[in-house]
Amino acid sequence: MAEGMSDLPLDPAILAARLLAWYDAGHRALPWRPEGGALGDPYRVWLSEVMLQQTTVAAVVPYFQAFLARWPTLPDLAAADDAAVMAAWAGLGYYSRARNLLACARAVATTHGGRFPAEEAALRALPGVGPYTAAAVAAIAFGKPAAAVDGNVERVLARLTDDATPLPGFKARARALAQAMVPGDRPGDFAQAAIDLGALVCRPRAPDCPACPWAEACRARADGTIALRPARPEKAARPTRRGYAYWAVGPRGVWLVRRPPKGLLGGMLALPCGDWLSGAPLAIPAGWRAQTLNAPVRHVFTHFALTLTVVVLHPPGDDPAAVLGAGFWGGAADLDALPTVMKKVRRRVEESRA
Ligand code: ADE
Repeated sequence: MAEGMSDLPLDPAILAARLLAWYDAGHRALPWRPEGGALGDPYRVWLSEVMLQQTTVAAVVPYFQAFLARWPTLPDLAAADDAAVMAAWAGLGYYSRARNLLACARAVATTHGGRFPAEEAALRALPGVGPYTAAAVAAIAFGKPAAAVDGNVERVLARLTDDATPLPGFKARARALAQAMVPGDRPGDFAQAAIDLGALVCRPRAPDCPACPWAEACRARADGTIALRPARPEKAARPTRRGYAYWAVGPRGVWLVRRPPKGLLGGMLALPCGDWLSGAPLAIPAGWRAQTLNAPVRHVFTHFALTLTVVVLHPPGDDPAAVLGAGFWGGAADLDALPTVMKKVRRRVEESRA
């Protein structure tokens, strides 16, 4: 059954029972994860799921703990300053998630009285909450029989059924397959078990089939097609863009700007840059001393790779009142709140001085 759509290879209740038995025999203890059949705290479940979109568990854990220590409840986060949240998010990437996080916290505070709704449809209506996150929160925090299907679970299901439909077309099919298996009494544990199976056993490369509770039933394993599932559409090559980043240093710190709210690194603190679309440099006012570093900085975003030429600037006469457009002289705490690509520029400047 290598082509087209396919059904589950075994009774859905049996598959669910095998997966839950595997989960019960020992799973990761994670700071947002309820234990012993309890429901999760909706705020913690939602926060963790937003952070875990496109980010690994290992990277998320310290951020999750820092957010909870600083904003222990949803109303605390809803009342936070935008800049404080963006700074706390610095380094996690995909910064629209942080903007949506705040928008969602505020929407729950104002339109739901500070409590998350329990239904998938109402959760879906919140900013930044897509089908996966809505289902995960409904299942893990509210015990609703919702099927939470992320990229990991799609891979597991494409292999289990040996379905050759390429992504993203397979997504809807995967949701239906998962929905057929969700056990009414333990939907949250089922969601987490499926996530763990994808992350730890049914890995993209080198899956650990002998450890898999579904190995016996797995059609891709029987057909020798594991490496081909999920089937992928032809990938467009990732273009490279070029641009400039400026490390302008004066007696009061390093000149920083706030990126526009929408778009790449939207709302984040940043170094001044030229236009990464056209590759044009910034117009530097007369009198500033400029030194271009030999080694550029490379950074890979989702849709393009960026090569940045780094220019170190000093204001005329090291004047503390000098300005470089709209921005401010930032200190150590501001520099710590820079996104990763900007931290790479900082490191390059430091290396050039070494
Ligand atoms: N990835 C996405 N959601 C997760 C969860 N709840 N636990 C572990 N990894 C995850």
